[in-house]
Amino acid sequence: MDNRPIGIFDSGLGGLTCVKEVLRIMPSEDIIYFGDTGRVPYGTRGADTIVKYVRQDINFLKSFDIKYIIIACGTASSAALPNIQGEYDIEISGVLEPAARLAVKATKNNKIGVLGTSGTIKSGKYAEFIENLNPDAKVFQQACPMFVPLVENGYIDSEVTELIANEYLEPMKREKVDTIILGCTHYPLLKPVISRIMGDNVTLIDSGAAAADYAKLRLDELGLSCDKNKKGNVKYFVSDTVESFSELGGLFLNREIQGGVSRIEIEKY
Ligand code: DGL
Repeated sequence: MDNRPIGIFDSGLGGLTCVKEVLRIMPSEDIIYFGDTGRVPYGTRGADTIVKYVRQDINFLKSFDIKYIIIACGTASSAALPNIQGEYDIEISGVLEPAARLAVKATKNNKIGVLGTSGTIKSGKYAEFIENLNPDAKVFQQACPMFVPLVENGYIDSEVTELIANEYLEPMKREKVDTIILGCTHYPLLKPVISRIMGDNVTLIDSGAAAADYAKLRLDELGLSCDKNKKGNVKYFVSDTVESFSELGGLFLNREIQGGVSRIEIEKY
């Protein structure tokens, strides 16, 4: 048993879709969350830059006495994991393998779509995991560079979002995929729009929630789950203004951001 907090980070708000699931399945765990809102989006940057950012994000989280790290970001997971794992004395897991596992389980026609940022799709990492798990699976990938700015600005279920989503999803409809990985942790917010376009028969995999479920499994296996009986504490940190994070964060969590949000200088780490 270990009552130290879990560290979770993303380029911005998206990782809160993972926090939401951690709060649901591990309500007693304390969480330190970092959203790199001053440098979002990660998805349009080169892999070297993302790896540098990821190291700083981890160094910041490790300035607290944490027991485990979840990279709640598809882009950061594809660019940095597993390469950086060996650099740290703490287990770090991401979103790719957990989401790929769920997709392979869910598909009936072996046609799986992956939506992600340009960086994630370029890396081909989701496809790699899926094809390793199921060599018969056909993977259809689509970069959706407009989704993160739309979500970060609160355009969740608007006409403009639907217009852009229609364009991104057209190839998935044509190929008749029956399962889609929302491979960026911002995208679960767009579930209503995506499911309206794709129809109810297409399973949408929430990569943030998948990462949380996997972390729970690992914490149990490693004997690191907490044994407190009271509700855990969440501390939020961002690298840009606190206000917009507090306002929009509620949308991601489906409840108000409780407790404080603090701003930090991430370049120092
Ligand atoms: N939530 C991130 C991801 O899962 C954000 C992408 C970005 O910053 O571009 O990929």
